Amino acid sequence: MNPSLIPAPHTLVVHDGAFELTPRTAVHAPECHATGFLTALLRRATGYALPAASEGALRLSLDGPEELGREGYRLDVDTEGVRLRAHTEEGLFRGVQTLRQLLPARIESPRPCPGPWPIPCVSITDAPRFRWRGVMLDVARHFFDVEAVKRFIDRAVPYKFNILHLHLTDDQGWRLRIESHPRLTEHGATSQVGEGPGGHFTQADFAEIVAYAAARHMTVVPEIDLPGHTQAAMASYPHLAPDGADTGLYRGMKVGFSQLAVHKSTTYDFLDAVFAEVAPLAPGPYLHLGGDEAHQTSAEDYAAFMTRTIPLAAGRGKTVVAWQEAAAVPGLPEGTHLQYWRPAREPVAPALADAASRGLPLIMSPADHAYLDMKYDDSTPLGLTWAGTLGVRQSYDWDPEALVPGARVVGIEAPLWTETLTTPDDLDHMLYPRLPGLAEVAWSPAARDWASYLPRLRAHTLRWDAAGITSYHRSPELRED
Ligand code: ACM
Repeated sequence: MNPSLIPAPHTLVVHDGAFELTPRTAVHAPECHATGFLTALLRRATGYALPAASEGALRLSLDGPEELGREGYRLDVDTEGVRLRAHTEEGLFRGVQTLRQLLPARIESPRPCPGPWPIPCVSITDAPRFRWRGVMLDVARHFFDVEAVKRFIDRAVPYKFNILHLHLTDDQGWRLRIESHPRLTEHGATSQVGEGPGGHFTQADFAEIVAYAAARHMTVVPEIDLPGHTQAAMASYPHLAPDGADTGLYRGMKVGFSQLAVHKSTTYDFLDAVFAEVAPLAPGPYLHLGGDEAHQTSAEDYAAFMTRTIPLAAGRGKTVVAWQEAAAVPGLPEGTHLQYWRPAREPVAPALADAASRGLPLIMSPADHAYLDMKYDDSTPLGLTWAGTLGVRQSYDWDPEALVPGARVVGIEAPLWTETLTTPDDLDHMLYPRLPGLAEVAWSPAARDWASYLPRLRAHTLRWDAAGITSYHRSPELRED
């Protein structure tokens, strides 16, 4: 039987037999960082402290051909051992995730389990379809602390996601300490949806998240949502509001009611000061400026605001990412990434189609396929339904390149908005079982199908059980027919 790999690799050949990992299996991996991750993972579940030896049966090396690309790898297992090759550390790391899935599901256990630990003989050559494979967590509507964000990263890593977009600011809270503007968190982080206390990341907290993600080859993309979704900032500094009045903290779930004072130059001084601190804290190439649902801002003011704000981010060395509304801004710098989020069943916004025809890169997050905060069906206790319900198959069965003809699609992202989600287990409930399918959409060749995917997905429930993920949605698809 074929191993249950998600996302499906580019090519997989299964041979007879297996290699068995034992306490005597030696590891040979001169100067490969991915080895540390692998041996820690193996030790956690097997209890084996695998010895290092130059004749090791488990070999990792960076001498893979350049054609494998930045994230590609080659993995060969025969009865004598395991050979993982890549051209980069990132490629090795992705290959380690595949090796992890070749082992029995017990490998996900946080404590030692009895063997045996067979690894089926295979030849795999693999590389991703898309370079942007993102997950997004909204820490503004409800705050999730460093431990919860690390756990979220741990959920995404085995499925080869490489982008962590953090939605850091919204009407209900500003979640990142900005030293030049301390009231953003001293006041603006004390609210959330409902009655709870809110919360925020210190800059040290944020650096810890960035480092944890980087060690797993995930790039953090911070979002400062502008010029709407800004009530928490204005409540902290009323001069940022158009009329300068303090309209107070917001704990509801409405969208589209707030806007910054787009005509005041002090607003841009504020933004420049914020970007000056955010840019070095998140050393990746991207800064997300939001730009969605600015319903109080005229089209003309919106374009003028974005035209003035984008260079402030670019001046800090960042490539700007924005939600699809920003497509209407004339003269967007080349390379600006636009994030498609409206439901795929709606006609494509003409401005977005136009921007795509000019070659601007698109990240695809159509709400009716990729929004993990949508309920699975009407009985789901958590989540929203504004884009409809989103079953497991619908999150899998779509092609990111079919929505905007001719567009330069760089990948997909699965956003998890948290108006109704308050605990890490709530996050798990919405992630599983949809997250693995979105990973396959992002990574695997376009020729994939639900019939081949479903048995693999079912097999992965054993991995979630072993990992102690208890709150996943028991979707009807997971039951054997
Ligand atoms: C969004 O869902 N407003 C991007």
